[in-house]
Amino acid sequence: MTNILCIGAGYVGGPTMAMIAKQCPQHRVTVVDINQQRIDAWNSDKLPIYEPGLLEVVQVARGRNLFFSTEVDKGIVEADIIFVSVNTPTKTFGRGAGKAADLQYWEKTARQIVKNATGPKIVVEKSTLPVRTAHAMERILNHNPSDIHFDVVSNPEFLAEGTAIRDLEAPDRVLVGGRETESGQKAIQAVADVYAEWVPRERIITTNLWSSELSKLVANAFLAQRISSINAISALCEKTEANVNEVAHAIGTDSRIGSRFLRSSIGFGGSCFKKDILNLVYLCESYGLTEVAEYWEQVVKINDYQKTRFVTNIISTMFNTLAGKRIALLGAAFKADTSDTRESASLDVCRGLLEEHAQVILSDPHALKNAKADLGDLAEQIIFEPDPYKAAQDAHAIGLMTEWKMFADLDYQKVYDSMVKPAFIFDGRNILDHQKLFEIGFNVYPIGKSPLSHLDEEGNWQ
Ligand code: NAD
Ligand code: UGA
Repeated sequence: MTNILCIGAGYVGGPTMAMIAKQCPQHRVTVVDINQQRIDAWNSDKLPIYEPGLLEVVQVARGRNLFFSTEVDKGIVEADIIFVSVNTPTKTFGRGAGKAADLQYWEKTARQIVKNATGPKIVVEKSTLPVRTAHAMERILNHNPSDIHFDVVSNPEFLAEGTAIRDLEAPDRVLVGGRETESGQKAIQAVADVYAEWVPRERIITTNLWSSELSKLVANAFLAQRISSINAISALCEKTEANVNEVAHAIGTDSRIGSRFLRSSIGFGGSCFKKDILNLVYLCESYGLTEVAEYWEQVVKINDYQKTRFVTNIISTMFNTLAGKRIALLGAAFKADTSDTRESASLDVCRGLLEEHAQVILSDPHALKNAKADLGDLAEQIIFEPDPYKAAQDAHAIGLMTEWKMFADLDYQKVYDSMVKPAFIFDGRNILDHQKLFEIGFNVYPIGKSPLSHLDEEGNWQ
């Protein structure tokens, strides 16, 4: 039996450890966090995050070989392998503010491990970290008075929210990086062996520490780059009567390009893409690689441009004034099938509309609580309405923000009948049947596609 500990019971720590516990009944898996409320939720059937299929996985192992607790020190003493999955947000202060990763939580954890450990341990970087963080961690861990040896292994996580269980059950790959020393190689093997219980060996890639750390940042940068690329093209499509969906399909059938991650949208959100690219940009800058830094920063700039463009388009379409107009935003989560609203493009659109003094009604099946918290003081100005039909009632416009299936399946005739006319719909995800909406009577504004409008240039009904 191996005693596995995970420090950090968030979107990554909880699901990954639940999967390990489910697949490896011979190991004991404990997940600890300083947040009592989170741990209580993990110990209940109302988990702290909404993720399809997660509760079922947790229920298989919880109480058998999966435990959630706030006893961090005790967990450290007992563990053979410690995964550290604490948050690594963008630094908001001092040198590198706005770009560099804030490693204070990680470093605190490393110090806590040294303080409590009574024997050798493998410490696994599960959080996403700047390349060469392991070097600093090794120094903190291995300079201890008791001469206890720690091996640092990098094992970044590639799950996406909303599909976390599928991603963990059948990952494209598991990446494990470590030192080339004998004990480093043994540590890599120990971590790889855990995954090998259910992941085919050929999908477990082992590398040196730095390749592993850097690959995680690069994977997110490449994924986000595809979205910014198609979103940049969506702006050109709107000027030229090309259709971005058709362009994405036409280029995506080239197997060298591939069809995935080419859905044009209001912009990517989520806690990681922006943070990880800015982290990469900062690293490049600090190594003097200015051109490389500028190249990657452009991915974030285009994403900001796409969000701003969406709001600008709403304003100009609705006769250059939104003051007092009711606008129903369908979706607060940064993507479908999650309750997560971190860096959600929907909330940025929301802020942009509030600046214009619009009355915003925000609707989402699972993310309203998080949205309210993320919007802070602005939340007071917003109406939160889980029922999309009620949200749309008496609205001048609808903005489709998150691609929840329930929003695609709405009865849009019923929605239209309850709205103020002329009724506008801005499809920020291109998931609706635009022709059908137009025939119902809506003025339809997709992304990267010519609008379907009943109004002429002066705003008169045609
Ligand atoms: P999160 O904020 O949901 O969870 C982090 C948890 O760590 C929190 O519950 C926090 O209370 C806890 N924590 C912080 N300091 C602690 C300490 N000293 N002791 C014990 N617990 C502590 O974050 P997350 O989304 O799970 O992300 C964690 C890491 O994984 C980040 O580096 C992120 O970049 C990376 N990552 C995230 C995703 C994702 O989909 N969210 C995917 C891949 C990688
Ligand atoms: C992303 C990566 O896909 C994961 O591999 C990675 O582990 C994770 O970040 C991380 O490091 O946190 P996630 O952010 O959960 O996962 O979700 P994605 O499916 O990647 O979507 C990110 C954003 O891009 C969402 O706002 C989504 O709506 C948007 N998106 C995605 C598009 O606008 N178009 C697309 O074609 C795909």
